[in-house]
Amino acid sequence: MRMYDIIMKKRNGGELSREEIDFFVEGYTKERIPDYQVSALMMAIYFQKMTENETLHLTMAMAQSGEMLDLASINGIKVDKHSTGGVGDKTSLALTPMVAACGIPVAKMSGRGLGHTGGTIDKLESFPGFSTALTTEQFIQNVNEIGIAIMGQTADLAPADKKLYALRDVTATVDNMSLIASSIMSKKLAAGADAIVLDVKTGSGAFMKTEGDALALAREMVQIGNNAGRRTVAVVSDMDQPLGRAVGNALEVREAIDTLKGCGPKDFEELCMTLGTQMLLLGGAASDKDAAEAMLRKTISEGSALKKLAQFVEAQGGDAEAVYNPSMLPEASIVEPIRSETEGFITHIECDEIGVCSLILGGGRETKESEIDLSVGLVLEKKVGDFVKKGDILAYLHANDRSKAKTAADRFLKAYHISAQKPEMRSIIREIIG
Ligand code: URA
Repeated sequence: MRMYDIIMKKRNGGELSREEIDFFVEGYTKERIPDYQVSALMMAIYFQKMTENETLHLTMAMAQSGEMLDLASINGIKVDKHSTGGVGDKTSLALTPMVAACGIPVAKMSGRGLGHTGGTIDKLESFPGFSTALTTEQFIQNVNEIGIAIMGQTADLAPADKKLYALRDVTATVDNMSLIASSIMSKKLAAGADAIVLDVKTGSGAFMKTEGDALALAREMVQIGNNAGRRTVAVVSDMDQPLGRAVGNALEVREAIDTLKGCGPKDFEELCMTLGTQMLLLGGAASDKDAAEAMLRKTISEGSALKKLAQFVEAQGGDAEAVYNPSMLPEASIVEPIRSETEGFITHIECDEIGVCSLILGGGRETKESEIDLSVGLVLEKKVGDFVKKGDILAYLHANDRSKAKTAADRFLKAYHISAQKPEMRSIIREIIG
């Protein structure tokens, strides 16, 4: 087999066979095929697209290019949850203890944040001492003992995807739906869960800016998951404004704790209930939606989800006392209000800009090597649909540096659009697929 022929076949609109896909994925991972030939193939795929079979073969080849985690020694149906990322997305922090408290084993691999969206691992590290550097054995043991563990992605998880994604990033070939879907799903399949719930975000703070693109990505990922023998459901949810009110690592942890105490923001609670319901249904813990919702609500009213979070934090070296006493979490030295300069309804928030404000304050990474400040960020007091008068507080800014605070506040005000016309309100849940 020759890489040249594979490139030409795809360039001319042909369908690549499983053998051809395995050949290029293995050859590229083992550095037998050079970047320039794979770049040419990625560009041919970008223009000619991939069929359902090609997409599945590519996903499987990338998943199998490294370690495939074997979770068979964990009892029960393991259900993973994945978000395509957004601003203020602290869902895993609240959802995983809720689901674990309902008896679904949570064995999850998570990543760090890069750019304006945060990563679950960074947020969890707000708990003093917490670590996600677990061996696979410890990871499995923790799930068997307390029902929940979260570890960092190992270097050997889908290494072909790591190489291909880096190449696509510099060759203008990231935004092809099948390449994105196979990239995300290869890591999910390698992480070993029996079933997968995907939270595909749509809007100005999301990777997929339009609802049409988010729906297309969701459908493609559900198809891959089901074709690979893992029951998969996708929830398409709004990211046209930050999720909940808190944006920033420790601030988001506080909001997740509030939610487990029953006093979280309504949009965030609704998303957790929707995703949790799908997880309980796939995991066989509930027979219908109403039963699943009732179980999840009970974990909040009886405090079992909060207790599960404390057990989980302690099992991974963190100080569980901070779950009951959040003042132990990192706190910024400056907390200042940002006030509205005008009167009217908030019609639109440039969500990615709010993520950038948190990044400017030090809460996100500009590069992979950046150190982040866990204490900084923003807490929104007003969101889309709210009416404000001139001088009303739109948000509180949490900072450790006055000049960064000024830059972030100026940018924040430009991201809020206010007019006399009340906007049409929509539910945070746009569609459930699968
Ligand atoms: N996230 C991924 O993991 N892969 C892509 O291709 C795009 C976003």
